[in-house]
Amino acid sequence: MIPLIKPYITDEVKKKVLEVLESGYLTEGPVTKEFEEKVRDYVGARHAISVTSCTTGLELALRACNIGKGDEVICPDFTYPATADVIKIVGATPVIVDIDPRTMLIDIDSLKRAITSNTKAIMPVSLFGNPLDWDALYAIKDEYDLIIIEDAACSIGARYKDKPVGSLADISVFSFHPRKFITTGEGGMITTNNDEWANWMESYKHFGMDINSKGSLPRFKIIGTNYKLSNVLAAIGLVQMQKIDELLEKRRSLALNYIQLLQEIDEIKIPEVTQGGFHSYQSFCIFAPNRDEIIKKLKEQGMEAQIGTFALHLEPAFNSGTCILKGHFNGSEYAYKHCLTLPIFYDMTMEDQKYVVETLKILLSNN
Ligand SMILES: Cc1ncc(COP(=O)(O)O)c(C=O)c1O
Repeated sequence: MIPLIKPYITDEVKKKVLEVLESGYLTEGPVTKEFEEKVRDYVGARHAISVTSCTTGLELALRACNIGKGDEVICPDFTYPATADVIKIVGATPVIVDIDPRTMLIDIDSLKRAITSNTKAIMPVSLFGNPLDWDALYAIKDEYDLIIIEDAACSIGARYKDKPVGSLADISVFSFHPRKFITTGEGGMITTNNDEWANWMESYKHFGMDINSKGSLPRFKIIGTNYKLSNVLAAIGLVQMQKIDELLEKRRSLALNYIQLLQEIDEIKIPEVTQGGFHSYQSFCIFAPNRDEIIKKLKEQGMEAQIGTFALHLEPAFNSGTCILKGHFNGSEYAYKHCLTLPIFYDMTMEDQKYVVETLKILLSNN
């Protein structure tokens, strides 16, 4: 079976985890700090704050910006539900707009049309590792004075005009779920250049502790919660971050090889990379006819494939009056129906890739 993903778990990773287990220091600790520093330096942000997931990180980001009841936050329709969930969780209203079907990223015109006097922030998603069009987003930010919180769940390693994702938005949040190529099992990381928000988030995730009192007898200044990432999980991510250049290079070479091989199949369309963008190919996606049938048949032939992600306006949680659905969703419906994610992982071979593409070719010609 060729799996969709395979986490990068080497002897080195196991050794580091064992070291932590033997140290007895299992909660957030020095390894978590090292992991944060590694991500911070890699993306070139002033702060990196680890959390239990991208979802809790996005919630923290919204709270830090004081976004809540009465505020609208615009997000794309084609995304994992977590993007809109967190807007609702903090009491604000998700305003859901269409995507550009070529890139599968938020459609800039739809985004502009959705802005009202209640709009406080935008939460675009750099989906599958394709970076956002920051020139367009900065123009909107300047014109309407909005905060940009990027759902960067899938896009560590991606860049826009040579600037790393994680240094471009007011706040970005990464996921380390096992579908991501840097994974801690479950986990997330917030990056920002804003000292005030960073301090508030650091405190909030530590039960509201005054961060200047950490180490001595703590004082609790605000009501907070516990979103700490343990030393054990951070150890997995730390070793992977030390190898991120190699992991990314391998990933991109697999993706570029897929693109080359897929040229032969007329029925397949390849999504576009954002102009000026460097895609990290967190997921390798294509557009295919009869997508669901293809997924089923690929599985029968010994390889795992998946849909891209969800169209929120089709889900009861988001279309039952809980959110504002703005405009049409033609782009999102196209992606929801046709986006197909193919296997991609570190030790995938060219032979594996050829087998996937050859099987696709046969299946499509029989369609
Ligand atoms: C676009 C997007 N946002 C948010 C999430 C949630 O991430 P996590 O599982 O780390 O909470 C995911 C997870 O796959 C995602 O793809």
